[in-house]
Amino acid sequence: MKLLHIDSSILGDASASRQLSREVVDAWRASQSGVEVSYRDLGADAVAQFSGFTLGSNGTPAELRDAAQQHEAALSENIMAEFLAADGIVIGAPMYNFGVPSQLKAWIDRVVVAGKTFAYGANGPQGLAGNKKVVIVSTAGGMHAGQPSAAAHEDYLKFVLGFIGITDVTVVHAQGLAMGPEAREGAFAAARKQIDALFEATVS
Ligand SMILES: Cc1cc2nc3c(=O)[nH]c(=O)nc-3n(C[C@H](O)[C@H](O)[C@H](O)COP(=O)(O)O)c2cc1C
Repeated sequence: MKLLHIDSSILGDASASRQLSREVVDAWRASQSGVEVSYRDLGADAVAQFSGFTLGSNGTPAELRDAAQQHEAALSENIMAEFLAADGIVIGAPMYNFGVPSQLKAWIDRVVVAGKTFAYGANGPQGLAGNKKVVIVSTAGGMHAGQPSAAAHEDYLKFVLGFIGITDVTVVHAQGLAMGPEAREGAFAAARKQIDALFEATVS
């Protein structure tokens, strides 16, 4: 199976979501054989913001694109191909200013595409990217799960994945990370317990 590992933290080695997303990937690999991992580090190598130029480049027939448009359209195509090929996805998703990092949003803008991952029909929108299992590592300085403050972060991620047909979504929480060393330690321990339980269940 193909596993896509996405990180979006800007905090480098100090990042909680990077540490825990790696642990999720390791546990996933240990739980079954033949897991092939591709890695996209949106913090280190940001995908350009989706813009009018992106839309124009993607919509221009390949043979009419200039060099800059070719580059832009190839970026969209590569990200989409990598996403569609994945059977499983691990997303490191820190909360920054009550939302997802803009780097993660830029990636979402490349994979939520009409005609590719969703379509509108007579019965409304239909997700076309089902059959993927997603694990979100949701990190935050404060406590937000189940609160209105989670709306643009965790709730948004679950909604947008559902919109494109992905409903097998597990959220691993490490929250309260800025609430002192004890709270931080407890958040890591709780997240690791969740990861263990998730993959114990898969193995048995
Ligand atoms: C720019 C920035 C904005 C942040 N905004 C919030 C916020 O709105 N709410 C919150 O609870 N924590 C906030 N935090 C704290 C982070 O969520 C926390 O540091 C978490 O560990 C981030 O995950 P990471 O370590 O993987 O980057 C913010 C941190 C940064 C760097």
